[in-house]
Amino acid sequence: MPDNIFESTHPLVRHKLTKLRNKTTKPKKFRELIREISILLAYETTRDLALEPTQVETPMGSTTGALLQEQIGLIPILRAGLGMVEGVWEMMPSSEVWHIGLFRDERTLEPVEYYNKLPVSPTVQLCIVLDPMLATGGSAVATIDILKRWGAKRIKFMGIIAAPEGVQALHQAHPDVDIHVAVIDEKLNDIGYIVPGLGDAGDRQFGTA
Ligand code: PRP
Ligand code: URA
Repeated sequence: MPDNIFESTHPLVRHKLTKLRNKTTKPKKFRELIREISILLAYETTRDLALEPTQVETPMGSTTGALLQEQIGLIPILRAGLGMVEGVWEMMPSSEVWHIGLFRDERTLEPVEYYNKLPVSPTVQLCIVLDPMLATGGSAVATIDILKRWGAKRIKFMGIIAAPEGVQALHQAHPDVDIHVAVIDEKLNDIGYIVPGLGDAGDRQFGTA
């Protein structure tokens, strides 16, 4: 596997993922789990963020600390990516959040863009794209195409469940983009759903099944 594709091995992630997959998990719990898993994945995804040294005065004296150097943009892919924002944003409250709306045409499996509120030129140094499901990879590739046309230089993708087909498609289209996921599942089925997966992440979060 290429060295910029990361599958989590963290026991807390595996534990929460198992609860997330369970078909009896209700939307409220499902949203809590998405939030919690996203925080854990953000810890792994942000491992190499640039820091700048800074002096800090404690009640006991002075020491050299470090603060984040880059401005970070969180880009949730609507709808299902929305649930991943809250927890990650709590960890990095000065991040900007830019929404991109895409849905997958369930007949062709091609992404259809319906919302994009990016400003004229990039305002951040690092973009982290958030979407719990990387299935065919079409939505992630299209979003990253949009970000690159916008001028984004450094982009990471953070997802929860990926199909091998989606990981391959995303890496092939954008080999410079790090891919962080909780798990890479077995396969896509013949209607483009991840198996074993968790079903439809948008419907399960928003109770619209
Ligand atoms: C889901 C998911 C991804 C996309 C993944 O969104 O959240 O965005 O499918 O599939 P792909 O890798 O084959 O493109 P969906 O289109 O169901 O829209 P929703 O989030 O609004 O429910
Ligand atoms: N989108 C989902 O929500 N689930 C899948 O398994 C595939 C795409």
